[in-house]
Amino acid sequence: CGIVGYVGGQSALDVVIAGLKRLEYRGYDSAGVAVLADGGLAPAKKAGKLVNLEKELVERPLPSGSTGIGHTRWATHGGPTDLNAHPHLDNAGRVAVVHNGIIENFAALRGELAERGHDLRSETDTEVVAHLLAESFSSTGDLADSMRMVCRQLEGAFTLVAVHADEPDVVVGARRNSPLVVGVGEGESFLASDVAAFIAHTRSAIELGQDQVVELRRDAVTVTGFDGEPAEVHSYHVDWDASAAEKGGYDYFMLKEIAEQPKAVADTLLGRIGASGELTLDEVRIPQSVLREADKVVIVACGTAFHAGLIAKYAIEHWTRIPCEVELASEFRYRDPILDPRTLVIAISQSGETMDTLMALRHAREQGAKVLAICNTNGSTIPRESDAVLYTHAGPEVAVASTKAFLTQLVACYLLALYLGQVRGTKWADEIRAVVRDLAQISGQVERVLETMEPVRELARSLADKNTVLFLGRHVGYPVALEGALKLKELAYMHAEGFAAGELKHGPIALIDKDLPVVVVVPSPRGRSVLHDKIVSNIQEIRARGARTIVIAEEGDEAVVPYADHLVRIPATPTLLQPMVAAVPLQVFACELATARGNEVDQPRNLAKSVTVE
Ligand code: G6P
Repeated sequence: CGIVGYVGGQSALDVVIAGLKRLEYRGYDSAGVAVLADGGLAPAKKAGKLVNLEKELVERPLPSGSTGIGHTRWATHGGPTDLNAHPHLDNAGRVAVVHNGIIENFAALRGELAERGHDLRSETDTEVVAHLLAESFSSTGDLADSMRMVCRQLEGAFTLVAVHADEPDVVVGARRNSPLVVGVGEGESFLASDVAAFIAHTRSAIELGQDQVVELRRDAVTVTGFDGEPAEVHSYHVDWDASAAEKGGYDYFMLKEIAEQPKAVADTLLGRIGASGELTLDEVRIPQSVLREADKVVIVACGTAFHAGLIAKYAIEHWTRIPCEVELASEFRYRDPILDPRTLVIAISQSGETMDTLMALRHAREQGAKVLAICNTNGSTIPRESDAVLYTHAGPEVAVASTKAFLTQLVACYLLALYLGQVRGTKWADEIRAVVRDLAQISGQVERVLETMEPVRELARSLADKNTVLFLGRHVGYPVALEGALKLKELAYMHAEGFAAGELKHGPIALIDKDLPVVVVVPSPRGRSVLHDKIVSNIQEIRARGARTIVIAEEGDEAVVPYADHLVRIPATPTLLQPMVAAVPLQVFACELATARGNEVDQPRNLAKSVTVE
């Protein structure tokens, strides 16, 4: 969910709505606002996207006020209805609260409130907070104090922002787990889940820590712990401006982000490769002795980041000879993984806020493992709680389906794998130097792929009425196939599956039917040619059974030509780096299919960009 709060000299409603627009990627099941005006509190909320709320506000305008809060929701407790939308109010309509996360003991609290005569109307866990705040405000007369009292009773993950009609110049926020950032303006203050919500007004930010409460006034920001003790805060300057989070002439953020990939890749490499090809990853603040002694790497991540991790495994094991496991964070967390101080855990997350990944890293640290985060969002929770962080420099990614973040995660994984190899002095030293040189070429190669995408778009349009697309790959091409299928599910809402090409004959080949589109990612014929030859046989097998083959193959690979109904060329790269160029046509393919099928490219149904619940 996305949260915004404002107090200052501008119309709070305008600031909050503009902020919510920038946070809609965090969830778009419903949206709502509340402003303090004329001694009272005026709320409005609506199921569906923010535009529905905007229409409602035109039909039934709110009085103008200079303090307000807003929310855009990804439904957890209770379906996405008007009633369940945030903000939630107490019975007297004096306090309004918005919430991100899940309050685990809400059923017990709700029972207690009902016994005390409160009438709770929605199915959400959030409404109990409004009632609890109202109750405690009646004794304290101070919203920040009340918030601290209430937070001490709550269990689970929650970030809350509240206003009270009796304190018209105050917004109060509380943070446990889900992000909350303060924006400090001149005579105005902001609160939001992400700096993007207030970047148009100020670039001066304060990061809130775990279990902190902030009281916002026009020219004062006071931060304490849940216990009321003053808290140390970290102020910082946001180093990108509003234009980085705008579409800049593209129809969709996703198109812009796909196009930005060459720059994102180059930025992620910048300053990390020395003149003689050695890697300088100073930010990896884990002592080299620990890296040298690590006897296992475990990568945890979700969604697209998980696919980056799967690819990283091939590189890490090949260049460092350290065994590497890759696991979905949500699975890792609830089994009994074998970890110790010699295990290096890598948590990959674009947002740095994914709850499944955060819980996995906490679990790993509890067992004494060292955790290194690969993350795109400065100051987010996952890097804060890790032993070290290697940032990807993709810039803000707004489209829900990840593209440029994925490519930069791959770059970061390669850098890290090579760095581990460098530190440990593996026998691949020459190969490592050669790969570092090849990595430096990748940005230009991605650029070339992007220049030749028109046939891919045309092909996608011609497949708009299909129900299923399969993706095949071998070696690092296998996770690329998984990512291609994920993109298609997310964006085109089509049934899509990725398989290891060698596994096809053990079951999935039964799915092959006349005209079924099958995308095949073909490894380079140079180097490990055995991989290449095997996949050419796989293509023949599926074609013999009537499939329509869409072959992604390196320039100059003539062996595939007779078996490709459609051929997509990518530049020649070393095998391990091929995912960087092979993933791009699959992104373009999914994006175009989504458009052809009339889907919302940037905000696919049911999804959210950062999922801050488990
Ligand atoms: C969500 C998004 C996916 C993303 C995944 C992991 O499910 O919809 O696109 O890959 O979270 O996100 P993270 O921010 O941790 O990389």
